[in-house]
Amino acid sequence: MDRIRIVGGNPLTGSIPISGAKNAALPLMIAGLLTDEKLVLHNVPRLADVSQLQRILGNHGIDITVNGKRRGDDPYSGQTMEIDARVIVDTTAPYELVSKMRASFWVIGPLVARMGEAKVSLPGGCAIGTRPVDFHLDALRALGAEIEIDAGYVLARAPKGLKGAHILFPKVSVGATHTAMMAASLAEGETILENAAREPEIVDVADCINAMGGRIEGQGTSTIRITGVPRLKGAHHSVLPDRIETGTYAMAVAMTGGDVMLSGARADLLDSALDTLRECGAEVTVSNEGLRVKRNGAGISPVEVTTAPFPGFPTDLQAQLMALTTRARGTSKITETIFENRFMHVQELARLGARIHLDGEIATIEGVEKLKGAPVMATDLRASVSLVIGALAAEGESMIHRVYHLDRGFERLEEKLSACGAEIERLAG
Ligand code: UD1
Repeated sequence: MDRIRIVGGNPLTGSIPISGAKNAALPLMIAGLLTDEKLVLHNVPRLADVSQLQRILGNHGIDITVNGKRRGDDPYSGQTMEIDARVIVDTTAPYELVSKMRASFWVIGPLVARMGEAKVSLPGGCAIGTRPVDFHLDALRALGAEIEIDAGYVLARAPKGLKGAHILFPKVSVGATHTAMMAASLAEGETILENAAREPEIVDVADCINAMGGRIEGQGTSTIRITGVPRLKGAHHSVLPDRIETGTYAMAVAMTGGDVMLSGARADLLDSALDTLRECGAEVTVSNEGLRVKRNGAGISPVEVTTAPFPGFPTDLQAQLMALTTRARGTSKITETIFENRFMHVQELARLGARIHLDGEIATIEGVEKLKGAPVMATDLRASVSLVIGALAAEGESMIHRVYHLDRGFERLEEKLSACGAEIERLAG
């Protein structure tokens, strides 16, 4: 298994290109199931999760082609992917594939809406709490699907098609909003989703479905109104920039000091996370090129942050923020409200010398002057990158094990960071 070796202490300076968002690319690929015409996605990031979903869609009989690089192309520009779901040969998503990536469960929405049936394994995915799918199933039931759970599989049937409904989510869920929005796009009549997720990736998917001939309004607010259409057509759509990758590198710069242009990043996608970064002492300026993040001289200030659905502080940046606050001049408090058990990085950050006290959903971080390099282990996607941030500022060498978690969500991380002066390399095997 690959490892990443980091020798900390170098400030980051230069430019980091921001890739397309993983959390938009995955549901956009799944939206390709909604039409028998070609959906062309641009700016798709090269990630293990994207390849995994390609395999899953391939299993349904979907043809996916990825355009190779052309001479003169920017090495960091995303891939162009053509998804052709003209024929869906199989409406089953098997355990072996779905268990590797939770978001692949979301194929259930488009499959039942277009084919009238789906058999999808209950998901696995990140080990960050129980992560049930009850909201997805309740939404599909409300749209008229019959749902049965048998031997670890969800069977959803709607032989006569789905019907628009009024759905109130008990709690904000990104995945359940995607499922309901996609399914309702091909349902008969109008659907209203209340307490819907407002994440930018939901807006991106809604915009793509609208480009395919869908009729979705209100995306980006907590009430989404969908008027179903009998069929959707092909379209071209470009994946929006990854706000989590943006926030991660911004925190890395705030941690090490330096001056980096995050090119292609969009400030509006970060919302409250930008305020937090500034509060920590980073200087953030917004331009047409992207976001410029600097921290010179002044230390890191402690913060109190609670994770929340968008536009609140994202749970997907919680681990990275915690790494940053380990070196703050004072005590910080981070409350995780979205996922229980999303503190697996705490033990590993402690190996670098961090002082963190956990009490239920609240982590209290007492800033220390110095971290020291150590061997550490990646446990999930966002936790693993928090260890990278810690190691970049630690004295001496750190070795990060199990980096396959990183490859699920960060494109060419070591290349991007070493181009800005970090001493970081991947060791194979
Ligand atoms: C998505 C993101 C993930 C992010 C999370 C929260 C993708 C591919 N993944 O995950 O990176 O951390 O949003 O921003 O976009 N819940 C239920 N029942 C359900 C569904 C969810 O109880 O049927 C709960 C979850 O356990 C969790 C909360 O709702 O406590 C939010 O989860 P949700 O927004 O659904 O997360 P995902 O869509 O899985």
